[in-house]
Amino acid sequence: MSTQHGTEHDSRRSRGLFRTKTVEQSIQDTEEPEHALRKSLSAWDLTVFGVGVIIGTGIFVLTGKVAKETAGPATALAFVAAGIVCALAALCYAEFASTVPVAGSAYTFAYASIGELPAWIIGWDLVLEFALGTAVVAVGWSGYVRSLMDNVGWHLPATLQGPDVAGGSFDILAFVLVLVLTVILVLGMKLSANITAIVVAIKVTVVMIVIIAGLFFIVGDNYSPFIPEAVSPPSSSGWDAPLIQTIFGYAPTNFGVMGIFTAASVVFFAFIGFDVVATAAEETKLPQRDMPRGILGSLLICTVLYVAVSIVVTGMEHYTKLSVSAPLADAFKATGHPFYAGIISFGAAVGLTTVCLILLLGQTRVFFAMSRDGLLPRFFSVTHPRFGTPYRPTILLGVFIAIVAGFTSINELATLVNIGTLFAFVVVAVGVIILRRTRPDLHRAFRTPWVPLVPILSVAASVWLMLNLPGETWFRFAVWMVIGIVVYALYGRSHSRLGLRNRQVEKG
Ligand code: ALA
Repeated sequence: MSTQHGTEHDSRRSRGLFRTKTVEQSIQDTEEPEHALRKSLSAWDLTVFGVGVIIGTGIFVLTGKVAKETAGPATALAFVAAGIVCALAALCYAEFASTVPVAGSAYTFAYASIGELPAWIIGWDLVLEFALGTAVVAVGWSGYVRSLMDNVGWHLPATLQGPDVAGGSFDILAFVLVLVLTVILVLGMKLSANITAIVVAIKVTVVMIVIIAGLFFIVGDNYSPFIPEAVSPPSSSGWDAPLIQTIFGYAPTNFGVMGIFTAASVVFFAFIGFDVVATAAEETKLPQRDMPRGILGSLLICTVLYVAVSIVVTGMEHYTKLSVSAPLADAFKATGHPFYAGIISFGAAVGLTTVCLILLLGQTRVFFAMSRDGLLPRFFSVTHPRFGTPYRPTILLGVFIAIVAGFTSINELATLVNIGTLFAFVVVAVGVIILRRTRPDLHRAFRTPWVPLVPILSVAASVWLMLNLPGETWFRFAVWMVIGIVVYALYGRSHSRLGLRNRQVEKG
């Protein structure tokens, strides 16, 4: 019955940029043997994946910077605010992932609800989030590994330390990391999940050590004032200024109550990744039940850990003295416990590898889905005969990202990752509302509560954080999107399988 409904709906909207691919078609495509991914993941695997990709540079690095420069001890509240924005989006992702359990995450959801061009735009946008995110975290990882190597007296030549280091030009560690992870992904999903489980255990243990050991070193005075008095940020004009200021003349502050929201738009990076769980929908044994569990479970675990870590760290050392490069480890050094500091650096170095691995995984799955739909060459969606993995896009993107990570100074590009992700949240939330109207008949194992209120709140919250990002970030984002639309116009539009099918139906 629902197939018939889908076909009728499809024929009504069969042409043009807003043609939608029915949910039934999406699921059917996953059943073609040579384009099929192996179904091996459980709710537990998904939660481990989620935690593996979420806990990373955000908590290990950004906590210190944000506490020192933007929010003080109230950084914990910034994590709560960013966590709420993500929870709203996660409720929308969970409905989609349980209804359309097909590789591609927001891309697939948009294709099923809003139409082909918006789907293409979101796929192109996810490249920004996942590929650039992988590169940014790989470079962060390389920094931790270098500092561990320095501790034992091994020093890399300056030129191989990466463009962010004085005298450096090529970040060999970041480059090699991405290539190694690419090989792991080509070899197979289950192998990746096993490696991830071990690494995630180490990472979560280290975070727990920070929380539990740190509790003993908290000094109550460090929490005073909990919300420091508001001050104007030093450079807040032109390209550097948040867009909200450029447009509305409203100037966000550092510290104060509004500083908490500015901080939230930065620590948002720490939550990026729960949406990646949705990209593995097609490889999940029982996606309808396990997708919502994996997405919401991993987000909840990470939010609790983040809030606890930021409360402990700002209690151990006065926020004005926190380090901006390795705040968790350095807080222990400052209290005279270098042993803990070493363990934490080790945990960070190990933990960041899974962040890179899963971001890379998410990227290849989106690319795979776009290629299977003919919007990118179909060559990329043939799975490996033995490993069952989309090895072609994995190798192509892995090598590309390794080069970007090796040669680019990407600190400033990290905000592009945030804007790309928030944009995807907006599209997914809008998509939930649209699909409820256009396909009320679909079985939804998980339903977002209070539709349309929750999706509308999700859009508003995401847009608010986007507006807190600099005008420069918006400009780069716009340039990337324009390139994407040109690629669609020149290739995807004419090669789209949906378009070809629809034309055949109309002819026949
Ligand atoms: N959430 C990930 C991190 O913090 C991207 O590194």
